[in-house]
Amino acid sequence: MATKSTNAYRCTECGWQTAKWVGRCGECQSWGTVVSAAENEGITRAVRATVLDSARIARPITEISSDVAAHWATGIGEFDRVLGGGLVPGAAILLSGEPGVGKSTLLLEVAAKAAEEHLRVLYVSAEESVSQVKLRAERTHSLSPTLMLAAETDLATVLGQIDAVQPHLVIVDSVQTVSSASLDSAAGSPTQVREVASSLIRVAKERSLPVLLVGHVTKDGSIAGPRVLEHLVDVVCQFEGDRQTSLRFVRALKNRFGPTDEVGCFEMTSDGISEVPDPSGLFLSRGSDAVSGTCVTVALEGRRALPVEVQALVVSTPSPNPRRVTNGVDSSRVAMILAVLERRARIKLSEQDVYVSTVGGVKLTEPGADLAIALALASAANDRPLPHDLAAFGEISLAGEVRPVSSSRVRASEARRLGFTTILDDESRQLVRALGRAFADPAR
Ligand code: TYD
Ligand code: MG
Repeated sequence: MATKSTNAYRCTECGWQTAKWVGRCGECQSWGTVVSAAENEGITRAVRATVLDSARIARPITEISSDVAAHWATGIGEFDRVLGGGLVPGAAILLSGEPGVGKSTLLLEVAAKAAEEHLRVLYVSAEESVSQVKLRAERTHSLSPTLMLAAETDLATVLGQIDAVQPHLVIVDSVQTVSSASLDSAAGSPTQVREVASSLIRVAKERSLPVLLVGHVTKDGSIAGPRVLEHLVDVVCQFEGDRQTSLRFVRALKNRFGPTDEVGCFEMTSDGISEVPDPSGLFLSRGSDAVSGTCVTVALEGRRALPVEVQALVVSTPSPNPRRVTNGVDSSRVAMILAVLERRARIKLSEQDVYVSTVGGVKLTEPGADLAIALALASAANDRPLPHDLAAFGEISLAGEVRPVSSSRVRASEARRLGFTTILDDESRQLVRALGRAFADPAR
């Protein structure tokens, strides 16, 4: 028994259709995205082509001016680096991150730097009162007469503020807490977020005004709200960092005006956020005595090479299930390296507790750290320190080969700059040979 039209509702996110209205999409699990599909149905009418006047006809790419993409520097070098040189007039930039990571602090700093240059900045705080923001600004020395504060949560009022203030830069903290009264759904729902973001982006384009939006993240770390938000904005920056440590990274996930493999490095201090233009050395322990179980690797953060020390500790255990505890490195990667060490290099660790950690809590996610982890484990197992000037990077395969990693020249030159003159990389080809070279000099 077929009915005429069973799927009267459709998800605006993924297009999933359903006969009954539901609060949550059965396909993409988004809340509040299922709307009546009635207006989308019906017979598709043929679209007639518009007759274009000569000025609108597509032009050769070589004749188009690229002036619009001129950057103006924010004055915070590490943020400019991520943005690809600075802010672009009319650009919408989304800065996402976990609560308390420092988004508001960074953007207040950006606002203050622009205001110092006598640019009018409108900082719309939809989460904190103006006095709370002022208190923070006092602490971070960000007071300036051209930095205008408004605590607003209504979209129309925010747009009114932009009209009244005529700013050169707008910051909205955050896009999930501003809402439009013309929509029924609550602030932060996909429909609201889309409406707020697209209205602000429209104003940004019309006025050639850069707009910085703060975006919340969900529990799994993705940006809260509709996926379309990331499509709407020009730049998506992700703010990363553990609350336990003061180091923060800002990474560009999408950038229509620059590269996406840049990472900015910052430190949270008691009086605001400060940039760390040279983070090399932060993840190395500074002990002068040679200790077994430590090895330096060179990780790649964006385009930047970052030397990181890996530490391993190996302890005999009577337990039939020895412990494998890792911090900053992937535990399954360590398990694989332990297996390769045992089978290919005859270093037996199956009856020992193994602890592997990075210095400074930095996370090593790339396989380039394999060789240093293996060397640190071998050094710990044999209780023989590695040469103090040794740095190693390379991926280890199950066959016991050392495989090349990207940007090895950049990594090696950064290691040399910090005094690591013995570099072990894929040139040794086999893990056994790399181990032989690392432990070759008995005097050390
Ligand atoms: P905040 O910028 O409010 O985070 P977000 O907007 O991402 O939620 O930063 C909040 C944290 O930063 C808070 O735990 C205190 C810390 N902080 C500093 O360490 N130094 C400072 O100068 C400021 C203003 C905050
Ligand atoms: Mg905040």
